Amino acid sequence: MLRYADPPTLLTNVFDDVEQVKELLESEAPYTPLGGWYNPGADPHSRTRPMWFQNDWVHDVYAAKGSELFLNNPTYIKSAQEFYDAEIIEPHSVYVNMMAAIVDGGPAHTDNPRFHGRERGNTPMWLLRAMLWSDLFDEYEIVQATAIWWLNDVEGGGIYFWPNGPDNPPQHHVGDMANTALVGDNHGMFHQVGPVGPFDKGTILVTPSAQLNPVGNGEWVVTDHDEEIYKASLDQYRVSVLWKANVFKNHEEREQKSANPLTMSEVINIFNADLEERNIGFHLASNNIEDAETISTISAIYAEAKPINALKSVFETIRQ
Ligand SMILES: [Fe+2]
Repeated sequence: MLRYADPPTLLTNVFDDVEQVKELLESEAPYTPLGGWYNPGADPHSRTRPMWFQNDWVHDVYAAKGSELFLNNPTYIKSAQEFYDAEIIEPHSVYVNMMAAIVDGGPAHTDNPRFHGRERGNTPMWLLRAMLWSDLFDEYEIVQATAIWWLNDVEGGGIYFWPNGPDNPPQHHVGDMANTALVGDNHGMFHQVGPVGPFDKGTILVTPSAQLNPVGNGEWVVTDHDEEIYKASLDQYRVSVLWKANVFKNHEEREQKSANPLTMSEVINIFNADLEERNIGFHLASNNIEDAETISTISAIYAEAKPINALKSVFETIRQ
């Protein structure tokens, strides 16, 4: 079963010294637009992206200097242990979002799942998501804890989340967000970024080549093909830092799960057994896994839920 998570834990006054985070933000510039997967192959000169910039501070093969502030944060680790009633929390990723002037919401979504043996490096994302929504692979899932921390209070910039499942109205964390964090299960719980101000110029769009950089005195500038598009002080950007960790109840569970990585042929066999049981005359095979028909068929059978009362996503607006 997909976990419809408990409400996330709110942490306040997370860091004694927020200046350290600001230094880290500057040293890891530039920040680049999110959203390539919504319109792959888009014209690099057309303005198809909102001012939603991102960067990775920690991933598989990189850790920014100073990022241990987030990665090994003892408060996050303790909160995640309590949230999941689990002993082992293995932090693995830290990434940053910087946003401004987006009048619609972000997409309402659950975060991408991970399974032992299957992740985005070796398995198409649509298939990983179908695996999640099928409930057929729960014993292989690597449970993920998430913390989201906010630097500033900006106009708007809240987060909606659906702790009671997608069929019940969301809650909203907005106002007094500076130096707070929510720790919980963003893989089991739908969530959505609310509109981000300033709102007086509508949603400002940039090309995929745009960059956000600090220019001194706490000012940050968006440049796009050498043109200055937007300039504001850091405290007017919605800055959030995300942290993710693997969760295991204990060492035994970790060892047992790690010893059984899923192969692609096992994934295919498990889906096919279920399709047969449902009397669906479609079978997955290693040579049809990339076909458009396969993707639409499997994604429709193991469909994702749609959370109620979600705001329209800015990425839908742009596509229209
Ligand atoms: Fe998310």
